[in-house]
Amino acid sequence: MSSGPMSANALLDELARVGVDRARGGYSRHVFTSAEGELREWFAGAARARGLEVQVDRNANVWAWFGRPGADAVVTGSHLDSVPGGGAYDGPLGVVSALAAFDLLRAQGFTPRRPLAIVVFAEEEGGRFGVPCLGSRLLTGTIAAERVLALRDGDGDTFADVARSAGYEPTHFGPDEETLSRIGTFVELHVEQGRGLAPLDAPLAVGSGIIPHGRWRFTFGGQGNHAGTTLMADRRDPMVPAAEMIGAVRRCAAAVPEARATVGRLVPTPGGTNVIASQVDVWLDARLPEPGKVRDLVAEITERAEAAAKLEGCTVEVREESYEGTASFDAALRDRLAALLGDPPVLPTGAGHDAAVLARFVPTAMLYVRNPSGISHAPEEFAEPRDIDHGTAELARVLRSLAE
Ligand code: GLV
Ligand code: MN
Ligand code: MN
Repeated sequence: MSSGPMSANALLDELARVGVDRARGGYSRHVFTSAEGELREWFAGAARARGLEVQVDRNANVWAWFGRPGADAVVTGSHLDSVPGGGAYDGPLGVVSALAAFDLLRAQGFTPRRPLAIVVFAEEEGGRFGVPCLGSRLLTGTIAAERVLALRDGDGDTFADVARSAGYEPTHFGPDEETLSRIGTFVELHVEQGRGLAPLDAPLAVGSGIIPHGRWRFTFGGQGNHAGTTLMADRRDPMVPAAEMIGAVRRCAAAVPEARATVGRLVPTPGGTNVIASQVDVWLDARLPEPGKVRDLVAEITERAEAAAKLEGCTVEVREESYEGTASFDAALRDRLAALLGDPPVLPTGAGHDAAVLARFVPTAMLYVRNPSGISHAPEEFAEPRDIDHGTAELARVLRSLAE
């Protein structure tokens, strides 16, 4: 690894082989897996090669300090974990552009007046344990450590067990007032996850906020049985109300302006071609700009799911796994960045970020780098190298302005 100044594009290239998912395409880099561990090691190495002081906080978030760690810090960064079969940019772009921006500042001979740091948050996507933004939620105390430690991944392993295996002591997880109190300002650069910028012919946007969103788990219970001997009239097949529910998700959400509702994950138990399932778990991701209305939409879908379950002689249990209300980024900070960057577009987003969690505690802003197709959470996610260089240079300007 070079320790000289590097572009964000060159840094991204260094990650290109880590966590490639040959089965799904794209990348699967889930928290505390070997791929994610490799990325953490890579980040710590890249930071140390730049003379940054690396610290891992009690919630497995990795910090790299430009100069002495301290209070009122200007913090930038993102995450290195991914959704299953995700793209190369969601998360890593904010990390590599931060490192490259620090290189630019160093090359300019910049000495910050406020401490400057990069943070890599743990388990932003919830790709392994279902609940997103665990690193920032634990740090800020907005989720209970006991709940997180007991979360199970798809193999039934608890967060506590896999954290321990990865070298993180489970009893350390929890609110971290000391680390939180150091963050004076947080700025996250991210690939855009929609097509807000492409038609505007603009390479970069400033974020205005994030719409409310949450995740719900619907567990349909029935009677497991033989696919060949069980007559249709004798079945209690939980796949049937699960399928009805998926149709209801589309119909109910389509009737609400600006709503987005998705079933992207469905797990039948035991999951055999010639087996009527005994249980089907269906995860609903629902988002909607109007505060309070997300839960109304979920209540309507729940009603439909309950009716469908009853018709099939099945049960259904619904659990809210996460919810994040409206995040409004700090207006003064947003305006300051917009003025500094020559009035780029200011965009809201339907994508969740650690910045939404942080925004409740510290002045927070986001920068979005244009994504020509708008595709994200998929291998086709993309940003042009020149837009990435532009975003990095603008991030450096922002950090310089905030820290000088
Ligand atoms: C994270 O990217 C999310 O919006 O789910
Ligand atoms: Mn994402
Ligand atoms: Mn992200």
